[in-house]
Amino acid sequence: MSGHRVCVGDFEEEARRVLPKAIYDYYSSGADEQKTLADNTAAFNRWRFLPRMLRNVSKVDLSASLLGQKLSMPVCVGATAMQRMAHPEGETATARACQAAGTGMMLSSWATSTIEEVMSATTSSQGSAGIMWLQLYIYKDRELTLSLVRRAEKAGYKAIFVTVDTPYLGRRWNDMRNCFKLPSHLSMSNFSTATLAFSEGDYGNDSGLAVYVAKAIDPSLSWDDITWLKKHTKLPLIVKGILTGEDAIQAVNYGVDGILVSNHGARQLDGVPATLDVLEEVVNAVQGRCEVYMDGGVRRGTDVLKALALGAKAVFIGRPVLWGLACQGDKGVSEVLELLREELRLAMALAGCRSLSEISRSLVRRVNETSRM
Ligand SMILES: Cc1cc2nc3c(=O)[nH]c(=O)nc-3n(C[C@H](O)[C@H](O)[C@H](O)COP(=O)(O)O)c2cc1C
Repeated sequence: MSGHRVCVGDFEEEARRVLPKAIYDYYSSGADEQKTLADNTAAFNRWRFLPRMLRNVSKVDLSASLLGQKLSMPVCVGATAMQRMAHPEGETATARACQAAGTGMMLSSWATSTIEEVMSATTSSQGSAGIMWLQLYIYKDRELTLSLVRRAEKAGYKAIFVTVDTPYLGRRWNDMRNCFKLPSHLSMSNFSTATLAFSEGDYGNDSGLAVYVAKAIDPSLSWDDITWLKKHTKLPLIVKGILTGEDAIQAVNYGVDGILVSNHGARQLDGVPATLDVLEEVVNAVQGRCEVYMDGGVRRGTDVLKALALGAKAVFIGRPVLWGLACQGDKGVSEVLELLREELRLAMALAGCRSLSEISRSLVRRVNETSRM
C-alpha cells in the first residue's frame, strides 16, 4: 500500500478512510466557512519559480538551523493537539519519527502524552535526545502555565512557542455539529485534574474544546504577558500566530527570539490572509532582528521552497503529520517527512539551488491577476 502514496494528499485520503468521522473532522477543519483554509494552500499557486540552469546540482544540501539547533532540513513538525486520536502511540510516535529524520517537533500543550514521556521517546540508548520545543497556551491559572514551562526546561526542551491567536477557540462548525470531545480512554496528559485534562466536564450541545478554552484559557492575554513569560524562563521565546508587520515589530520590541507566521491552520479567524501572503511583510518588518518561520498549507516540497524564497528560515507542518500517524504511526510520519525532504531536494535542484543560502527572493515571482494559470 505504502508504495502508492506519492504525495501528502494520498496520506490524507487514506487517513480519511481509517479515522472515525468526528476525529477526521476535528483534524481537517478550519473555522467558519473555511475560506482561509482553502486560501492557505491556494496561495502557493499564486507564485512561480524563476529557476537558474547549469549550476551543477549533483549535490544538494538541505541542512538548516533554528535558533542554533541544527536540522537536517528546514521542515519541522508543528503543534497539533491530541495525537493519540490518530494512533495509539500519538505524540511519542511523532517524536521518534522527527528524531529519525533529524528535525524538530513542537509539542502541543494539549498533547495526549506528557512532556516527559515524549522527550524520553526520542532519547536513544547513546543518550542523544531529539530536538523538542513546547507550544504553550496561557491558562487563567498562571502557576499551572509556568509549571508546563518548568517541566519543559527540566526535560530538555529547547524553546517555548507561545500561541497568541487563541484567546477563544474559533468556530469550527464540524466540531460544533459533532459535539467534539476526546474519546473516553484519552486525556490531555499534562494536566492532573479531569476538567483541565479535557476528560470530564459538561460541554453541552457544543464543541467540547470551545467550551474548555472559554473556561481555562486566558483571554486577557496582552503584550505584557510576553514580558511576564520572558521573566520566568531562560528558554528562547517564539510568538506563534503573528500575521502583520506591525505586530511583528511589536514582538521584536518585546524581545522575542522568533516569530512564527501562522493563522493556526485557518482554525481561528476565518477571513485572514493565507500565511504565505503575509510572510514577506513580516520578514521585511523584522529586518533580521529575529528569526521568522511560517506554517499553514505546506503540502509539497515546492511549497517549502516558495516559503524559503519569501524569507522563512524554516516551515512547520501540521495536518500532514496527523495523516501520516493515522496511516501508519511513526512509520507513516517518517514517510511524510521523507517525502517532503525528497520533494524539496528535487525542487531545489531543478531551481538551481545547492543549499539554503542560494535560495533568494529572486527565485519566485507572484502571478499577475491577469495571467493566472
Ligand atoms: C488538529 C490540529 C490541532 C492543532 N492544535 C494546536 C495546538 O494545540 N496548539 C497550537 O498552537 N496550534 C495548534 N494547531 C495549529 C498548528 O500548530 C499549525 O499552525 C497548523 O496546523 C499549520 O497548518 P497546516 O495544518 O495547514 O500545516 C493545530 C492544528 C490542527 C490541524
